[in-house]
Amino acid sequence: MRTQVCIIGGGPSGLLLSQLLHLAGIDSVILERHTRDHVLSRIRAGVLEWGTVEMLEKAQAARRLHEEGFPHDGVLLSAQNRAFRIDFKALTGKRIMVYGQTEVTQDLYDARDAAGGTIVHEAQGVALHGLDGDAPHVTYVKDGTEHRVDCDFIAGCDGYHGVSRASIPEGKIRQFERIYPFGWLGVLSRTPPVSDELIYANHPRGFALCSMRNENLSRYYIQVPVDDPIGKWTDTAFWDELRRRLPNEAAERMATGASIEKAIVPLRSFVAEPMRHGRLFLVGDAAHIVPPTGAKGLNLAASDVHYLHEALVAHYGGDRLALDHYSPRALARIWQAIRFSWWMTTTLHRFPDQGEFAQRIQESELAHLANSATAQTEFAENYTGLPY
Ligand code: FAD
Ligand code: PHB
Repeated sequence: MRTQVCIIGGGPSGLLLSQLLHLAGIDSVILERHTRDHVLSRIRAGVLEWGTVEMLEKAQAARRLHEEGFPHDGVLLSAQNRAFRIDFKALTGKRIMVYGQTEVTQDLYDARDAAGGTIVHEAQGVALHGLDGDAPHVTYVKDGTEHRVDCDFIAGCDGYHGVSRASIPEGKIRQFERIYPFGWLGVLSRTPPVSDELIYANHPRGFALCSMRNENLSRYYIQVPVDDPIGKWTDTAFWDELRRRLPNEAAERMATGASIEKAIVPLRSFVAEPMRHGRLFLVGDAAHIVPPTGAKGLNLAASDVHYLHEALVAHYGGDRLALDHYSPRALARIWQAIRFSWWMTTTLHRFPDQGEFAQRIQESELAHLANSATAQTEFAENYTGLPY
């Protein structure tokens, strides 16, 4: 096979990049390790910045998002079981959209299918070759046969555990990392969400978050030790702990029910620099990870795609320097999101060695946020998404 851009990974970043390149007349092939059903079974992000919504509009994959997504104009934060609201719309004129990553991925698959795009699923043993030269190629095995894709460029959209970043020689890439000493237990349940807007709660027992997917599908999280056996968290234990950490009125009206998904995820911040090695460009989780507290992971993947897609279009239009700008432009925005996600994580979670002093500092930080329009505007600007 021969294509202009070989995309490794058929998650949201690979699909979005492929679709935008197609609309600009640039050919690509996606190689995905798993089946489509497997990719679509992963319950992940739920909050889209408006910039991400606009990217999906540009990709002609936003019809269902506008029919079924929930625009939110604000968010609730809580400390000491008392909530206060930050009004994004009033402070910044911006809003966010609640729409699951699974749905975004489905919509992008539909768009790629409608355009006749090539997505190779169950591509095993993907290997990248010739990154330093001007004629790279990718090999993979499918149904026992080895295949080869020749291309101009490779986009590494294959997530944190993918092969792309691992193909860059040591010494050519710098990595920055912080691992947080706790995880999130996430539960999906067929119950009406406890609140119309998301609730992020600080509590001496640990962080809690109330989110949603639709009127009868709730998504909740609590901070837990990352090595807790999942069996310890019966549904009853989960609901009891969640309620203890929430604003009192939310705890009282919480509808509970059987969980339909339950898992513990670790929290980390990670950045690899630069996001380019020769003809390879890293995109999304392949280059960076944020703790989910700021709801930035999927949104950063979308802004990376914006920068890379613009650079590739300019390159094929004759601008030979355009691709040099990709990594510095993307990283400038990424570090802003890394900072905000780190700040939200640090302010809202209970750390293992945290004493009364640190708890009071967190509560004071949140009291300041509750009372200062300046602090709220800064929060709203970051949460709704900094400009591209
Ligand atoms: P991915 O979604 O990881 O997609 C990468 C794709 O590449 C996958 O389909 C994978 O199968 C494929 N792949 C990997 N290796 C290879 C290979 N060698 N060859 C071929 N294909 C390969 N963000 C939030 O904002 N809020 C959240 O609540 C949230 N929760 C999360 C929970 C978990 C468990 C994880 C892992 C992430 C979560 N995120 C969350 C982050 C968000 O989901 C990611 O930022 C987003 O999925 C990034 O998209 P991506 O396309 O870059 O990577
Ligand atoms: C979610 O709905 O899954 C979600 C929402 C906000 C976050 C993280 C996850 O910060």
